[in-house]
Amino acid sequence: MEIIIKPDYNEVCEEAAGIIHHAWKKKNSLVLGLATGKTPLGLYKKLIALYNEGKIDFSSVATFNVDEYLGLEETHPQSFAFYMDNHLFRHININKVNTNFLSGRPDNIEEHCRAYEMQIRRLGGIDIQVLGIGVNGHIAFNEPSSSLSSRTRFETLTQESIKANAHFFKHEKDVPRFCLTMGVGTILESRMILMLASGKDKAKAVAGAIEGPVSASNPASALQLHPQAKFIIDEEAATKLVRKDYYRWKYESKDKGSDFLKK
Ligand code: PGA
Repeated sequence: MEIIIKPDYNEVCEEAAGIIHHAWKKKNSLVLGLATGKTPLGLYKKLIALYNEGKIDFSSVATFNVDEYLGLEETHPQSFAFYMDNHLFRHININKVNTNFLSGRPDNIEEHCRAYEMQIRRLGGIDIQVLGIGVNGHIAFNEPSSSLSSRTRFETLTQESIKANAHFFKHEKDVPRFCLTMGVGTILESRMILMLASGKDKAKAVAGAIEGPVSASNPASALQLHPQAKFIIDEEAATKLVRKDYYRWKYESKDKGSDFLKK
């Protein structure tokens, strides 16, 4: 894992946008896994800015969102499909047919989830998966107790997640109880994972994910099993990390180390 501690949220988003930009330049196309919530909003603003500056072209980019509430139409303002359109897609030149979502109203959940996984494979797999972390350590909507090899499926939200997402709705009781989510195993197949976290309320989950045991009780700890997982976090989210100084030192030494690797 690479642990990148930035002074604040803006720099977290800058770093993540830079990595995506760099990867796009190398390939001239990209399959992105995307998340919703508060955390990636700043990253999406930076990607829109890169597009407006003519530095990135999204016409060859495909996306897969990691989850969706069950029961909401894609036109519902709190659906993740609506969120993505509002915060990213309508501002860039992405081709809507290349944006993939789990449905909030599938006819057959099992078939729908299987087809989603097949579509990921058909497009060659996810190059970069963007993730946020729940206060309880969830990734996508893989709540604690999710199998670390789980696939895309139906999931029941925890009370913590319902509370954390209540501010998006009028009343807490309006937050859907159920969702579809990519599995932890599905997410681990991405070639690179960018885990973004900001704020003190994420510090415990972040410390558990990076320094705790690999456990279904903290699904984000599964990223310890991934060879290209980067945690890009701000100072507040890093407060409970015991080896914070080492992570900083390692990151600052990266350029010197890469001289050896080039030989
Ligand atoms: P947040 O949610 O970005 O709104 O904090 C993160 C998550 O639940 O994955």
